Amino acid sequence: MKKEDKIAIIGLGYVGLPLAKSFSKYYNVIGYDIDIKRVNDLKKNIDRNIDVDLKDTKIVYTINEKDLKDSNIYIITVPTPVSNENIPDLNCLENATRMVAKYLNKGDIIIYESTVYPGVTEEICVPLIEKNSSLKYNVDFFCGYSPERISPGDKNRHLSNIVKITSGSTPEIASKIDTLYKKIIIAGTYKATSIKVAEASKVVENVQRDVNIALMNEFAIMFDKMKISSSDIFSAAKTKWNFINFSPGLVGGHCIGVDPYYLSFQSMKFGFTPELLLKSREINNSIPKYIALKVMQFINEKKLIKEEAKVLILGYTFKENCADIRNTKVEQIKIELETYSVNVFTYDPYVKLPYTNLEIDPFINNEKYDIIILAVSHNEFRNYTIKDFNRISKEKLVLLDIKGLYKFSTWTL
Ligand SMILES: NC(=O)c1ccc[n+]([C@@H]2O[C@H](COP(=O)([O-])OP(=O)(O)OC[C@H]3O[C@@H](n4cnc5c(N)ncnc54)[C@H](O)[C@@H]3O)[C@@H](O)[C@H]2O)c1
Repeated sequence: MKKEDKIAIIGLGYVGLPLAKSFSKYYNVIGYDIDIKRVNDLKKNIDRNIDVDLKDTKIVYTINEKDLKDSNIYIITVPTPVSNENIPDLNCLENATRMVAKYLNKGDIIIYESTVYPGVTEEICVPLIEKNSSLKYNVDFFCGYSPERISPGDKNRHLSNIVKITSGSTPEIASKIDTLYKKIIIAGTYKATSIKVAEASKVVENVQRDVNIALMNEFAIMFDKMKISSSDIFSAAKTKWNFINFSPGLVGGHCIGVDPYYLSFQSMKFGFTPELLLKSREINNSIPKYIALKVMQFINEKKLIKEEAKVLILGYTFKENCADIRNTKVEQIKIELETYSVNVFTYDPYVKLPYTNLEIDPFINNEKYDIIILAVSHNEFRNYTIKDFNRISKEKLVLLDIKGLYKFSTWTL
């Protein structure tokens, strides 16, 4: 790489910001986002997502696209969600691509990190770039794809210690992109044989997790009906060397619960319906309803009047130890319970009003609840004892523990 290489990161979220920070140790980095509040926060070194330490970083933040014109490497890390009908929504990606195309110069490289299905970079983005610039693919400009594998909130695995898959539109560009990432990834890189392979590898990783979790969820429901503890069963099964250690649970967020729809969308365009993948999505999406029905079962057993029952849900984010509430399935549990007119109270130390309706930790309040659901295993919840739970329970503790966090739970998924 040239010393004067100037990297522009487009989209400064969970993926883009740590990337900008890492590259800024070695290159001139400009960070661009369309969210003015986000950019203003970052200019003050504030990251409200996962509190990335931005002290002493030399990133230039901007909301002005014209500031991008001197860059020669563009890395796009914008959201790739699905529509309400679970169809890939490529609007952000296409907008970012069109915008970058306006500022491209001969020899520039665009690298995509957003999660997509195989074919998006070369079949959707490249034609857009050609149309919005006067440049020709693999003659005047080049592309690459390098999927992100970070898991925000995980203190042990971060950008630099996870092997990074890289790829490029020509062998030379693939090597150049690989060298670029090697500079910031201590764990090393893996050069995929093509952009499509790199794109597919990312969705495959997440589909595999989704399918495995769906199987665990199916086991959990099956053994719940048989009244055998599924966690005891998994603990026993785990003693075999080749048992794969997945847990049942809620699958929310913007990755595992979304990426399978990207792959199935493309697969169906090629005339193949991936049955296992789609069924797994269905199973995982049904878990909030199952939890709500379980709560109703306890309400009936306790002979409570459902309109007077108070249910406390601990945790609202889609995963532990971070503030990310995108596509959280906890909200779904709440909505399901509210259809039965149950009073639902939600608390999450990472999430403020108006998303949750309790601001103060219920363990330090005087309120009491009929049923408590542990939905997210934030570190803040780990040390609560049976005494603490008894203190906030109206009568005998009924604790539904989705994450299997406590030994004294009434019920575990
Ligand atoms: N968060 C993760 O753990 C994770 C892990 C691996 C892959 N991914 C993938 O990476 C991509 C980004 O995810 P994220 O979690 O960082 O999203 P995010 O929502 O945290 O950040 C995306 C940022 O892009 C900005 N943006 C949207 N449109 C833009 C545009 N046209 N130009 C410039 N900025 C724009 C948004 O304002 C936002 O700040 C997605 O495809 C996601 O699936 C995310």
